[in-house]
Amino acid sequence: MEAISLAVIGGTGVYKLAQLDDVTSHTVETRYGTPSGPIRVGTLLGQRVAFLARHGEGHSLPPHKINYRANLAALQQIGAKRVLALNTVGGITEHFGPRVLACPDQLIDYTWGRISTLSEEPGSEVLHVDFGHPYTPLLRSKVLAAAKVTGVRLHDGGCYGATQGPRLETNAEIARMRRDGCDLVGMTGMPEAGLARELGLDYACLAIVANWAAGCGTGEEITMAEVLANVDAASAGLPELVGELARG
Ligand code: HPA
Repeated sequence: MEAISLAVIGGTGVYKLAQLDDVTSHTVETRYGTPSGPIRVGTLLGQRVAFLARHGEGHSLPPHKINYRANLAALQQIGAKRVLALNTVGGITEHFGPRVLACPDQLIDYTWGRISTLSEEPGSEVLHVDFGHPYTPLLRSKVLAAAKVTGVRLHDGGCYGATQGPRLETNAEIARMRRDGCDLVGMTGMPEAGLARELGLDYACLAIVANWAAGCGTGEEITMAEVLANVDAASAGLPELVGELARG
């Protein structure tokens, strides 16, 4: 098994890593089943980096159908110990407008009905992992440092609210999330973060704000075209940031 400096999971609008060279594709099976697609392993700015598109490379998997366990276990199987999760999100509070990049430090889970533990199968050991700090603090600090070195503007902190989807939220749901303390809303942050903790993987989230969440902006309809254009624009500096993070 080769050493992988960093694994990156791409979210909506991020189906490959720009500047990943000499790519080999790995079809991996895990005890939890099949991941969302092949893992692409390549060299990014001199570092060995693995990439997996969370929704599949053709965005064919809705958030509640993603096999989060298989995705993380597959990345671990090919040698990754650290995972940077890219999550496309809506912004709720003041500092989290469209095209902002943020590295949240907290989350609230509103999802339901997803397999959220490795202990799902009868007879498996029940795990009660500590999850007070859902994102690995050391990896978070390295993400922030990499952003600084590469000149990428990245908001430090924020609370990610994970919703069920695939529909977007109602204005009232977002108002409740704001009262709860959420700054960001996305559909894939959980159970991924909790499973990473159970697997013993270091895990941090880099949230890409694609739109104002329901009722937060001008009140105009949120379109997929807007979401994808904003993700594209906000992602320009990501290869350098990922390369720098992989180095450290
Ligand atoms: N809500 C939930 N998930 C999202 C959003 C949103 O507004 N935008 C991008 N992913």
